[in-house]
Amino acid sequence: MTDKNLLIEIEDKIAIVTLNRPKAMNALNEITLLELQDAFISFATNNEVEVIIVTGNGEKAFVAGADIAAMQSLTALKARQFAKLGHQVMRHIEACPKPVIAAVNGFALGGGCELALGCDIRIASENACFGQPEVNLGVIPGFGGTQRLARLIGKGRAMELILTGNMIDSDEAYRIGLANKVVPLEQLLDTAKKMASVIISKGAYAVGMAKEAIRNGLELDLDRANQYEAELFGLCFTTSDQKEGMQAFLDKRPAKFTGK
Ligand code: CAA
Repeated sequence: MTDKNLLIEIEDKIAIVTLNRPKAMNALNEITLLELQDAFISFATNNEVEVIIVTGNGEKAFVAGADIAAMQSLTALKARQFAKLGHQVMRHIEACPKPVIAAVNGFALGGGCELALGCDIRIASENACFGQPEVNLGVIPGFGGTQRLARLIGKGRAMELILTGNMIDSDEAYRIGLANKVVPLEQLLDTAKKMASVIISKGAYAVGMAKEAIRNGLELDLDRANQYEAELFGLCFTTSDQKEGMQAFLDKRPAKFTGK
């Protein structure tokens, strides 16, 4: 491993982004956030990438939060800017037209839990722990946790996690819908890659549209969201993948999608 904050490998159309500050439990400082942002901006237009997996280096931590040492002496104005940078990065991840899977390999606390929440799907290892412990530090979640956690697991459960600062294990995270599945640590990356390959085998255009419909639709009332879905559904009929997918079904053969 090098001393870069972020390691990026691209293979078989899957980009694996590894947070690489193991001595600080992969905590997010400004430079790491900026590197993450740059990575996601480039993935959006990189034809070699169809799915992104985000994970942490080592066996202990996915990301143990925003970097407390770097935050300790921030002024209010700088703290606000830092939170806004975090929001911006999570937005780039969320708005990335390609699916993003968090492979949560250990502690996902504070900004780490928020990073996992910015991803589309969360697969946790058995040793993973989730939490928003910011109240223990005299602050609140600052990278979107108060908003995304409540949207994902509901207000009551988000209140409990954020107000107590308690950590939960991966089974509890699965039970409340924070983790999509839980696997042994040694199977984590393979499980994430297998899920990525299943997604890649579908038409990339339809996958991107589906992500967009779910993500943007959740911000709208149901009638508008359904209208939005209908527009995107219609757009799919401009693609060769729609023609190929439906013809292949009728011909009783596997579809050969091109993402066009
Ligand atoms: N920032 C900076 N350094 C961190 C860190 C963080 N969030 N989390 C861990 N570290 C560092 C520790 O300071 C320690 O460094 P040294 O070896 O130099 O002392 C190293 O990582 C190992 O940590 P521990 O010795 O504490 O390891 P542990 O196994 O005993 O405990 C832990 C692990 C439970 C994750 C514990 O480190 C911990 O509680 N970390 C802080 C978690 C936290 O509060 N996260 C929220 C941060 S605030 C935030 O994220 C705000 C926001 O929303 C934007």
